[in-house]
Parts: sequence; C-alpha cells; structure tokens
Amino acid sequence: MKVRKAVIPAAGLGTRMLPATKTVPKEMLPLVDKPALQYIIEEAAAAGIEDILVVTNRAKSAMDDYFDYYPELETRLLQAGKDRELHEVRHAADLANIFYVRQKETKGLGHAIWRAKRFVGDEPFAVLLGDDIMRSRTPVIGQLMAAAEKYDASAVGVQQVPLSAISKYCSLKVEPLEERIFRTTDMVEKPRPEQVFSNYAILGRYVLKPGIFDILENQAPGYGGEIQLTDGLGELCKRERMVAVDFEGRRYDTGNLKGFLEATIDFSLEHPETGEWLKEFLKEKAAAL
Ligand code: UTP
Repeated sequence: MKVRKAVIPAAGLGTRMLPATKTVPKEMLPLVDKPALQYIIEEAAAAGIEDILVVTNRAKSAMDDYFDYYPELETRLLQAGKDRELHEVRHAADLANIFYVRQKETKGLGHAIWRAKRFVGDEPFAVLLGDDIMRSRTPVIGQLMAAAEKYDASAVGVQQVPLSAISKYCSLKVEPLEERIFRTTDMVEKPRPEQVFSNYAILGRYVLKPGIFDILENQAPGYGGEIQLTDGLGELCKRERMVAVDFEGRRYDTGNLKGFLEATIDFSLEHPETGEWLKEFLKEKAAAL
C-alpha cells in the first residue's frame, strides 16, 4: 500500500486570526520568510509525495498564485544577479504537482476532505491540515506513511496533551502495538471529563484509506453544526484497522495567535539571517521585563 497523494484542507475561515485573515488566507501568513502553507507542502514533498490537492475557497486565490511561476519577477531577479531570491521563488513552484478544488460552502473539515474524493480515487492518501506546522527530524507525514504501510491501515498522528487540555482535542482509545504505535478502536471529539479515553490527541496529520469517503458522504453535521472529520474517523476505526502514531516532532497550531507567534519566534531563532540577532534582542527584552 503506497501513499502517493496528499490533501491539504485550507478552506477554513480563519476566524481566530482576524482581522488579518479577512483578506489574507491564514495559510499565506508568513512564518519568517515563507508562507505557512509552504512548510506543509515541503513536509509532504520530503516524504516523497508528488501530487497534492489543496482544498481552497473563493477568498484564497493567493495560494495558487504563490505556487506558480512569475516570469516578470524572475527575469528581474536574474538581471539583478539575485540568484538566491530567484532560486527561492522558483523552488516554491517546483515542490510538487499542486492541484486545487474549491469547497463551495464552509461546512467543516470532514466536508473539505470529502471534496477530494475524485482526486484521490481508490487509494490511501495523506492529509495535512493547513494550519498545523511540524518541526521534526523525519517528516511527520512520512512517519505516519511508514506505519500505515506496515500495518496496512489508516493512521492518525497523535501526541499526549495535558489531561486538563484534552477537552479541546479528540481523545483516543489506544492499545500498544509497538514503541510509539497503537491500535485505535474508538475516539471522541472534544470530550467531557467522563468521556475521555486517554490523553492521546490527534494533531493535524492523517493517512486515510478511501473508505472514509463513503462515511463522510452520508455523515450528519456534528460539533458546531459542521461535518467533522473526527466523527468520520470514529466510524472508520470501527470498520477498518487504524493505528495511532505518537510522532517525533513539535507541532505548532498556527491558526491561533499564540501558536503563530511561537512558530515565528522558534523559526526566526533557527534562521541564519535572524537567529543571532533575535537571541540578542530577546535577551535585551527579557532583561528589561
Ligand atoms: P480549523 O478549525 O483549524 O480552521 O480547521 P478554521 O475553521 O479556518 O479556523 P477558525 O476556528 O475559524 O479560526 C482545521 C483545518 O480545516 C480546514 C481549515 O482551513 C484548517 O486547515 N477547514 C476547516 C476547511 O478546509 N474547511 C472547513 O469548512 C473548515
């Protein structure tokens, strides 16, 4: 079972990042010098995925423009001898074959995934949420792909979160299979205290078998009146084998202001042009607090 395709749902309204996201898609907000979406496409490409579908909407055409060539700009950079910038601009457009489909109504993440049915066809596929950015030695989606292939199963990326915070996530029922990999047979989205299965929560990465589409197609709206992906996954893990992978890496939820700022600071500290400068700047600031 080889995973060749990925879907990036990026059609949400981004209400937690307003007013910026009124006209700029949150996936296009820069983390240091690249839009958030580029980090996600780079992760998929690094895991060997060549075909990527971005689920978008009418307010997000900046995304398809960004991953295209821009001849006027490239000619100007070439003439000015700005080789590094030229390389960066081209690199973004050459990362993968990127396709787009619109989610015509914002009916939830499960509905956005369902829009990928024709693109995916009858094969397993990766899902990377458009506002969850990962930092890891091995691409997080690659860690899930390896487990999904080994167990011929769907796979969800999980990490432990504090029990006091699990009510914000999807809590999983897990049985250990091997180090960092569990079998999962049930889950509950945004659990009340008496519903919690464990403090393992799903965090933004999935490998799914195409059986998910039959489930999503007939699924009633759930939490918040939206078609929830986790309701569909809850059904899928009862019908078919699903594993949970406690992935190695740090996840940033860049869809909220604090997560976005954490990623901005961490990535700036690692960036060759800004790292040393930012360290000094932060020391000065900390000393003055
Ligand atoms: P989020 O809930 O994090 O995104 O959805 P949102 O709806 O944009 O956020 P807020 O709460 O209004 O700030 C998780 C992922 O699912 C996508 C989002 O773009 C994000 O990548 N999504 C969500 C869709 O593609 N379509 C939807 O209808 C809802």
